Amino acid sequence: MYSLALESSCDDTSIAIFKDENLISMKTASQNEIHSLYGGIVPELAARAHTKNILPLYKESLKDANITLRDISLISATYAPGLVGSLLVGLEFAKSLAIINNIPFKKVHHIAAHLHSAHLTNDIKYPYLGIVVSGGHSTIYIVRDLDDFELVSYSLDDAIGESYDKVAKMCNLGYPGGPIIDKISKNYNGEYINFPRPMKSPNKPNLSFSGLKTAVNNYIKENPNYNLDQVVSSFQEAAIDALAYKIKLAAKNYNMNRIVVTGGVSANSRLRSEMFKIFKNKSVYFPELKFCMDNAAMIGYLGFKLYKKHGPDNPFNVNPQASKTLGA
Ligand code: KG4
Ligand code: ZN
Repeated sequence: MYSLALESSCDDTSIAIFKDENLISMKTASQNEIHSLYGGIVPELAARAHTKNILPLYKESLKDANITLRDISLISATYAPGLVGSLLVGLEFAKSLAIINNIPFKKVHHIAAHLHSAHLTNDIKYPYLGIVVSGGHSTIYIVRDLDDFELVSYSLDDAIGESYDKVAKMCNLGYPGGPIIDKISKNYNGEYINFPRPMKSPNKPNLSFSGLKTAVNNYIKENPNYNLDQVVSSFQEAAIDALAYKIKLAAKNYNMNRIVVTGGVSANSRLRSEMFKIFKNKSVYFPELKFCMDNAAMIGYLGFKLYKKHGPDNPFNVNPQASKTLGA
């Protein structure tokens, strides 16, 4: 059975085609060039770019998979959370295709899909400690099944990816900041500035990154001749240290032996090495790099599994939702 999946919750338009559980095509249109001018995502521009990208991407995807719409037996799409203007484009496109052509439809929660993105290339058993670290989320869950999540910890302010992007903007490094800061830090061997490790206390279950961002901003203002590599590498040390501490605490408190780290920031090389270092005696999983950032493959994977378990959703009853917390 062929299925088609759409993801458009933020700034990437992505379409994936599966044959059963096997991904056979994935096409993604990035908007980095548009938003890098502003150092962050401009929602109105994101929605317009999705509108422009979606139809050519759809045609290209079918061609790449060497199938036609008549071969498709399931359409999945992200419905929450995200920018409503962006969600609307992919979701309404998917619903229209499904309704007009009488194809079963499945709605997919973006964060639930991130949490399952490592399943695309790994055989992972439930339950596990699932972490989503991206431009919009820094959240830790216990994942018990396809549709069973317990919220453990979240950021009280900025998401970790957002703090990478803001620090990169302060230092005129462009957008998205995460990969740029990751690359600089990998080659930095000097001393680190001791930036604050936010919320690093066992009595504080949640995360916070805005204080760290402000500390970097203050340092830059007070030291106009700052060493760029030192500042961004020190920021990364503090951010990953604080995050790793909370992941370690949650794994201990919930006695979890499987750790699954997902989302755009899970591509970070420092975070990856730290996780393997901390959890030597546990199983640590990451998505393949192309499944870390927003992508339709994770939507298609979870859409197919949920469809097999619960059947289709009525597309007439599904609308985009800006925020919808899993397991709260
Ligand atoms: O999952 P994603 O594509 O979109 C959201 O749902 O937010 O994540 C994008 C975020 C951006 O903030 C970007 O700076 C960050 O992921 N990111 C990274 C790396 N690659 C992407 N952060 C740190 N290190 C990286 N290598
Ligand atoms: Zn995402």
